[in-house]
Amino acid sequence: MRFSDEFIEEVKARNDILDVVGSYIPLKKKGNNYWGLCPFHNEKTPSFSVYPPKQMFHCFGCGEGGNAITFVMKYENASFTEAVKILAERAGMEIKEMEETAEEKARRSKSDTLRQINSDAALYFMNNLYTPHGEKGLRYLKDRGLSDETIRHFGLGFAGNNGREVVEALRKKGYSDEMLVASGIASNSEKYGMSCSFFGRVMFPIISGDKKVIGFGGRVLGSGEPKYLNTSETQIFDKRRNLYGYNFAKRARKDYYILCEGYMDVISMHQAGFDTAVASLGTAFTEEQAAMIKRDRREVYLAYDMDEAGEKAALKAVRMLTAVGITPRRISLKPCKDPDEFLNRYGTEEFEKRLKEAENGFLYIEDRVRDRYDLSDPEEKYKCEREIVENLWMFAGDEVRMNTYAPELVKRYGYTASEISKLLDETRPREYARKDDAKFATAYSPPKKPSGRKKENEWTPAESSLLTWITDEPDIYRVVKRYLEPDDFSPGICRRIAQLSFEMLEAGDFTNDKLMAQLESEEILSEATGILQNSAPDIDTAEKRMGMLKDLIISVMERKCEMLSSGDDPENEMKVFTTRLEIDKLKSGKLRMSDEEES
Ligand code: UTP
Ligand code: MN
Repeated sequence: MRFSDEFIEEVKARNDILDVVGSYIPLKKKGNNYWGLCPFHNEKTPSFSVYPPKQMFHCFGCGEGGNAITFVMKYENASFTEAVKILAERAGMEIKEMEETAEEKARRSKSDTLRQINSDAALYFMNNLYTPHGEKGLRYLKDRGLSDETIRHFGLGFAGNNGREVVEALRKKGYSDEMLVASGIASNSEKYGMSCSFFGRVMFPIISGDKKVIGFGGRVLGSGEPKYLNTSETQIFDKRRNLYGYNFAKRARKDYYILCEGYMDVISMHQAGFDTAVASLGTAFTEEQAAMIKRDRREVYLAYDMDEAGEKAALKAVRMLTAVGITPRRISLKPCKDPDEFLNRYGTEEFEKRLKEAENGFLYIEDRVRDRYDLSDPEEKYKCEREIVENLWMFAGDEVRMNTYAPELVKRYGYTASEISKLLDETRPREYARKDDAKFATAYSPPKKPSGRKKENEWTPAESSLLTWITDEPDIYRVVKRYLEPDDFSPGICRRIAQLSFEMLEAGDFTNDKLMAQLESEEILSEATGILQNSAPDIDTAEKRMGMLKDLIISVMERKCEMLSSGDDPENEMKVFTTRLEIDKLKSGKLRMSDEEES
């Protein structure tokens, strides 16, 4: 499918970025921008902003940016064409495609045929199961505790006793050998000719989210290598972008997925009523799969195998999910190896309990790391600590999480904050090794003595409101500047915001974007958004607005007096005195609007 440039332009024109992004994530107006939690990385304070005048979005946290089409591409994991189509439909436009090129037409028709072959093969395998021919397969599945209902639900089958039968059956349906090979069902060799390499195996059709058979996993009966044979990548089968069981799980009304390792685990889980169980497809869990889950806005329970391989795989999955902002919980299946075995031995209710008891996936993994070391040996102890701290890097870029998890290690294992800082530095991944790594290097600095830090960044609600208001409506600056200068604001980030915005306003060069970019480059954006978080007061009359502005200015001035008199500098006394005079004058009068009024 292709669209003309004019069509694409019209799609853009009819999809305001604010509406588009706003339909995916909540946005709040602040200044000229609209802010929200970035859907593309993990954060607790909004650094994702939409700027309607330019029809652009930008995340100051992760650097992602673009227009409505790129947003939809990223969010929906869609191609450019798909994104245009989604937006066109959203705007109720009639979809006007350009003529397909011959190449595109051929590709599409090939995909159609491949889907058809897979679906016909699945039917064939399924029917096999209930003929004498497939008896072995059926017995195997029954022995593993699957009911007829489950077998049908998942469309399980048997590939036949030799490699020729299914080939013959599919040839009869009119498919060419070339297509059968392309589908992965058959291969052609000089020795055996056309033959299905799955023969002798029970077949697990892999079904896409839109309910099409796109490939197979085939298990040997009993022992043999490989245990599972999977369709290799084809034009319609992308292992990275599909999940086993997803066709059902996606439609189940629950707010979580249960991520398993194996096909059999998924099937047993569904049979036991856990209908949101999914598994990756004979490969490790992928970023694309994490993105699928994130798009569905669901939590994740990990039900990976309890062996070392399962633990490793779990760690990878935790990393991958953490990167998209999901903190998975880990289900303990002890004393069993995997969910399939657990359900067969203990049943649904017990699993339900384990689900409730599931632990934070990160901490679970840290505990398993400790299990692997002999902590009575100092060298082992050191390596263990190092490995544990290294795992913290998965929160890179998410300072809030970093700062909650790091102290947890202090609490749980007695590491000191400075040890953690050091080891973090030692284990720094290469991608954070450049100059802009300051963001993370300081993310977990050892907690300072209580006196230091807190005062440094304390600020009052009045300061927050006033600064927000100024950045929202730069016009009020000319009033504010008659009474306040940046140094009158609380030291630390609050004062820095005042300095930066006053400077820009003074130069007639203020935009929110600029301010945000500057705060970002100084690594204080996330804290700054904490201060600039309220929206400007929504007050109807000008008089009331001025009244409110006056109150805010007075509050900030009072705060200034408080700050000044808390020190022991005798010189401050004079300043406090003059400021109090100013406050009194202000309280009994009106705000001075400009220099002219003063004279
Ligand atoms: P497991 O060996 O844990 O599979 O591999 P399982 O589902 O528990 O197998 P059963 O219970 O013995 O039948 C987990 C997953 O890894 C992939 C498959 O997707 C399997 O479900 N795998 C495993 C392969 O692709 N090939 C293999 O040879 C083995
Ligand atoms: Mn297993």
